[in-house]
Amino acid sequence: MEHHPVVKKVLITKTEIIAKTQELAIHINEYYKDINSTPILIGILKGCVPFLAELINHITIDCEIDFMAISSFQGSTEAITEPFITIDINQDIKNRDILIVEDIIESGYSLVKIQQRLLSLGAKSVKIITLLDKIEGRKVAINPDWFGFIVPNHFLVGYGLDYNEKLRNLPYIAIADIEKLHLLK
Ligand code: IMP
Ligand code: MG
Repeated sequence: MEHHPVVKKVLITKTEIIAKTQELAIHINEYYKDINSTPILIGILKGCVPFLAELINHITIDCEIDFMAISSFQGSTEAITEPFITIDINQDIKNRDILIVEDIIESGYSLVKIQQRLLSLGAKSVKIITLLDKIEGRKVAINPDWFGFIVPNHFLVGYGLDYNEKLRNLPYIAIADIEKLHLLK
């Protein structure tokens, strides 16, 4: 397969992502069935889109979906320490079970902020699922309840992950060739 010119190495293929997502969905289905709950899956825009879309294909319990957005990166490849919520939840989540759906956790700053916001609005529980965990990049003590793959500390693109808003459409997760990123118009 021809890959995008800024791709250095494909790390995870679409087939592997789908298989892993199916596996994760089994755990989610069991967990929420056991607590007899209809969770709200809150996707964190925009990176969550491909993962959330795949995940809900395999969710068999009743659930709802909603979205929030947070600015974690400012156009570069460095996470910011004070991310701010750019799209807040716009429904009453008091006493609801929430499952945050993320593409990747790196420092953890974004998730701490979102988790605090949801708890302050009265959520009964806030769980976290992420497709990728860049565990070496962690700066604060927060961990996902479910994760797909642990990934190395490189700048990754594809399957929702962007560089300056581009490359989210690649159907795989890849390590970007930092030297070639300037080729993107
Ligand atoms: P954190 O606040 O450092 O945990 O960063 C979380 C957010 O930063 C993720 O939800 C992504 O949107 C973005 N991010 C983290 N690592 C990468 C990466 O390697 N490539 C692209 N986006 C990333
Ligand atoms: Mg994200």
